[in-house]
Amino acid sequence: MTVCEVDVSINSQGNTSQQSSILLPWADEDFRANPHPWYDVLRRDSPVYLDPLQENSYVISRYADVIKYGKHHSLSSVVPDWVPKGPWSLFKASMIVKDGEEHVALRRRSNKWFTPKLANQYAQHTAAAVNYALNDMGPDGVIEAYRNLALLPAHYAMCAALGLPNDGYDSASAWMHDAMVGLGAAVTDAEEERCKTAFLYLTDRVKRHLQLRRDYPEPGMVSSWIDDVIHGEMTEQELFEGVLLFWATGTPNAAYLISGGLETFARNPEVFELWKSDKNAHQSILNELARLYNPEISFTRFTKEPLEISGVEIPANKMIRFMIASANRDPDVFPNPDCFDLTREVDSAGNLTFGIGAHQCPGMIISKAEVYAVFNTIAERVRKIELIGSPVYANSDRAASYVRLPLKMTLY
Ligand code: HEM
Repeated sequence: MTVCEVDVSINSQGNTSQQSSILLPWADEDFRANPHPWYDVLRRDSPVYLDPLQENSYVISRYADVIKYGKHHSLSSVVPDWVPKGPWSLFKASMIVKDGEEHVALRRRSNKWFTPKLANQYAQHTAAAVNYALNDMGPDGVIEAYRNLALLPAHYAMCAALGLPNDGYDSASAWMHDAMVGLGAAVTDAEEERCKTAFLYLTDRVKRHLQLRRDYPEPGMVSSWIDDVIHGEMTEQELFEGVLLFWATGTPNAAYLISGGLETFARNPEVFELWKSDKNAHQSILNELARLYNPEISFTRFTKEPLEISGVEIPANKMIRFMIASANRDPDVFPNPDCFDLTREVDSAGNLTFGIGAHQCPGMIISKAEVYAVFNTIAERVRKIELIGSPVYANSDRAASYVRLPLKMTLY
């Protein structure tokens, strides 16, 4: 199945004619709304791009380069001293800023909480939340699907894993959006300020959750980690940063992917029908959705020694930004890359949406379990999905996000 008549890209207002020495106008509104026309030029003209707008930074945009060098052993996630200390520099003891054995040890702490079996159990909370939202609809079946069918259902699964209360996530997810903007390539003063405030809020909530579980332990990752601290197997800082990372950052990404799927079902009823009628198609539908709706647009690493990529030598102590969103639509690997296409020769399982290498997303299993729970619950109960207004997106240069997705659901 190929759907090309309807543009399933993030937003369709791109400008294809731009060309200047600035190939990535990070702060430009049109660019943020739909960066793909710019990525097309970048891949063709400057696949290893020394970015005039970011200090010491190179941008890698071709699929072949991202997949080969994004996991290169010489690259580091440890942030060097020359990088200005923004709000994200509060992470000092977590897996996102560690290499080698230290990184592996931190990953092990969370891996056991996110096995496929446990993820499926947590995802029952997702299905229950979707059922609740469908039961709660008015007679016209109008629903704000981003919050009620994606964000909260995904969050409930995450809270089951962590063993935390599941209320209050509307505010947290809104602040998390502001925090993600602060990871971008050209962050304005106002964005940095909002990111700082976001972390004040998120930090305070995490402290509150930790206090709650110290007083009233519950089964789940957080109480178990608190025990590890008591037994000297984990530091307070590792506990705090780990909970902040999992509680705050994971869920919105899964919610954006789920929303991308619901929007695709609404725009292309034949894809929804296929999900309902053919279980064997589920995996390839999910892969193609993930390829097109990649919530994390890029990831960064630092060179510890010179590294040659496609004939360009990148010196030591530079930042490299690997563009997931560009690689996922590289026509050399995915012909007609903007089309939702289930007949690709190279299965879109090769998409880079969850990253690659040692830092590949540890939330991939639970995210996919959440996606299945939402789509399967809807497939059982909903005859028809319609878009009843324009979705509201809030894309930055680093994250592709939904704010609202207005749908009408006709139940069986
Ligand atoms: C559709 C949903 C998601 C997407 C697209 C996504 C994407 C990514 C990507 C691209 C990375 C790699 C970053 C890098 O290499 O620097 C990553 C890492 C990470 N993700 Fe996710 N993520 C999703 C959901 C989640 C969830 C649900 C959780 C929590 C369970 C989570 C927790 C993390 C953590 C802790 C890391 C850091 C891993 C490390 O540094 O070793 N993510 N994610």
